[in-house]
Formats: sequence, C-alpha cells, structure tokens
Amino acid sequence: MKDSTVQDQFGRPLRDLRISVIDRCNFRCTYCMPKEIFGKDYPFLPQDQLLSFTEIERLVTVFAGLGVKKIRLTGGEPLLRKDLDQLIRKIKGITGIEDIALTTNAVHLVKQAKALKQAGLDRINVSLDALDAKTFQAINDRGVKPDWVIKGIDQALEVGLDVKVNMVVKKGMNDHEILPMARYFKERGIALRFIEFMDVGQSNGWDFSSVVTKKEIYQQLASEFELEPVERAYFGEVAKRYRYKGTKTEVGFITSVSESFCSSCTRARIAADGKFFTCLFATDGFDLRELVRTDLSDEQIEEKITSIWGNRTDRYSDERTEESVKNRAKIEMSYIGG
Ligand code: GTP
Ligand code: 5AD
Ligand code: SF4
Ligand code: SF4
Repeated sequence: MKDSTVQDQFGRPLRDLRISVIDRCNFRCTYCMPKEIFGKDYPFLPQDQLLSFTEIERLVTVFAGLGVKKIRLTGGEPLLRKDLDQLIRKIKGITGIEDIALTTNAVHLVKQAKALKQAGLDRINVSLDALDAKTFQAINDRGVKPDWVIKGIDQALEVGLDVKVNMVVKKGMNDHEILPMARYFKERGIALRFIEFMDVGQSNGWDFSSVVTKKEIYQQLASEFELEPVERAYFGEVAKRYRYKGTKTEVGFITSVSESFCSSCTRARIAADGKFFTCLFATDGFDLRELVRTDLSDEQIEEKITSIWGNRTDRYSDERTEESVKNRAKIEMSYIGG
C-alpha cells in the first residue's frame, strides 16, 4: 500500500481518524446534551442516514492509504450502535491501521466488552466526571450511578482492554471531585485525564469563567501528590502527561483552552452521517456519504480527501479569543464525537 502522507497547509500530517457511529446517547450530560435541547423531539439521525459498516470500512481503507494509523470510534454513545463489534472486526483487517480505540460512557461495557475485545478493539477511554453519586447523577441527568460506570471499567480490564478515564472539569459542577477522582484512580493504577471544559457546539452554555484550567487542577493535585512529567509519546498527542512519583500510574491534562495544541493536530473526524470535518470546532463538513453512495472509485474519493486535507488551515483553539471566530456556528459534540 502506498503511504502518500498528505500534509495540510501547516505541514500537519493526517494520522488519526475519529468516527462517530451514532449521534444518540443514553446520558444527557448537562455540558454536552442538555435535556432542554436534546429532548424527545430532537431530530436525531434516522438509521438510513448513518454510514453503514461497509461504507465506514471502505472509507477507513482510503484514509489508511493516506497515512491514517489510529481509529477512534465515538458517538454520542458508540455502544448504542447495534453490532459495533462487527465494525471493529472489519477495521481490524485493514492494512495500516495500528490502533483501534473507543470513547464511551461505559454503561454497556458490562455486556459488550468481551465481544469488542475479541473483535480486535485495543483500548477505551471512559468518560466519568465524578465518583460522588449525587454529583454524577446531576451531571448525566439520567440518574446513572457511578457504580455502573465502574462496573463497565472492571469488565473492560477483565477482558484485557487498556483503559483510561476522562473527567471534564467544570467550575461549580465537579471541581470538588478532582482529588477524590485522582486518589481512586491512582490507587487502581488507571490513567485519569482532566479535560478543560470546551466551547464545543452551540448548546452547552460555555463561558470562560466555568473553565478550570490545567494550572488550577495541577495545584490541587500537587497539594497531595508528587508528580513528574512524562515525555510525549508521539507527535500530535492530545494529553500532557505526568506520573505519580514512584509509580507507573499516569495522570493527564487536556488543555484545549489554556494551552492549545493545534500546531500538532493530526486528527480528522467523520460524523455519523458521513460528513468529514478537519476540526472539532468546524461549522460545516464535506459529505463523504454522498461520495460512497454514488459510483465514484476509491481513487476519486482519495483525491477529494487529499485535496480537503491539503487545504486545511484549522487552528480554532489558537484563535478562540479572536473576533473572527467568536460568532462561528459550531456543530454539536454529540454529533461530531469529541
Ligand atoms: P488518546 O489517543 O487515548 O489520547 O485519545 P484522545 O484523548 O485523543 O481521545 P478522547 O476521545 O478520549 O478525547 C479526550 C478529550 O480530548 C475530549 O474532550 C476531546 O474532545 C478532546 N480532544 C480530542 N482531540 C481533540 C482535538 O483535536 N482538539 C480539541 N480541541 N480537543 C480534542
Ligand atoms: N468540553 C470538553 N470535553 C467534553 N466532552 C464532551 N463535551 C465536552 C466539552 N464541552 C468529553 C466527553 C468525552 C469526550 C469525548 O469529550 O466527556 O470524554
Ligand atoms: Fe453522552 Fe458523552 Fe455527551 Fe455525556 S459527554 S451526553 S456520555 S456523548
Ligand atoms: Fe485540531 Fe481544531 Fe482541536 Fe485545534 S481546535 S487541536 S485544529 S481539532
């Protein structure tokens, strides 16, 4: 297979592809899918508008030819997509794909982890924003207790998946849970990443005053633990990583707001309906579904993707405070998959 290692306008290669497999979720996290907006009348995508597994497999094959090595499946909640293990099995068979990961709220892992692992899934990132039941239930707004997520994590570890935990930190929502979360996951030897609350989409009521920055979180951790920095593992790594001194357990920070990482952004995204995006904060995407549903050849699809990536100039997190991007109509997190 040829590796044409396409580069964008800032010399950034295309390495990671995040694919949203469904725009629905069983949670209604207040910072992501607030109930008032994502209620029972919300126009979620009907089944026939989702890319089929065969269509996704074809696209991944084309992307792999352009240098993509990592695939991450996202949602909404990806485990709500029926027979997801079958998709993983297809992707696993594609030459050039070295890593298949999934971002999930873990509730359905108890039932699905084994089949996902057997299909070839390498690792998962689990979203869990608090250990305190009341706090977590207020955040997910569906009454889900943290134990359910922990059971999903236990099952994933049991079947041999690598697990990391993501905690979005928002002021007044769960910043009192920073240390309890750190203590718990340190004890269990599981990497925890703190994510700065981001201004994704139009409906999460983002305001800079509700961001808890890496610096603030780090200070809290440093009051109790000794941390040492860990070398970046590869170009384009999202998290800044540290290790609890004297252990192998890591803690990370995803600092889109306080220390943007656009200069090394190698990520492309495909939404559940097949729209192709070159930034999480984009307004519009290119319709790949239409391409795969007409009689274009793989080469023609590859040319289109090469041209889009080649023209890419996205760097939203660098520009966030500039007037030019302030009124941008951004797509929703649950649709693009984070
Ligand atoms: P790893 O490969 O395990 O490091 O995964 P990841 O951190 O790239 O993926 P995950 O789905 O766990 O995302 C964690 C957080 O990082 C989420 O809040 C994502 O929205 C955010 N994130 C991931 N990629 C980007 C990006 O390119 N830009 C911005 N601004 N945020 C990102
Ligand atoms: N800011 C930061 N992270 C977010 N996520 C969802 N919405 C936001 C936001 N506004 C996280 C989820 C999940 C990951 C894909 O993105 O909690 O861990
Ligand atoms: Fe669902 Fe994740 Fe959004 Fe929460 S953050 S509503 S679990 S997609
Ligand atoms: Fe990449 Fe856009 Fe995130 Fe910057 S803001 S790191 S360009 S996805």
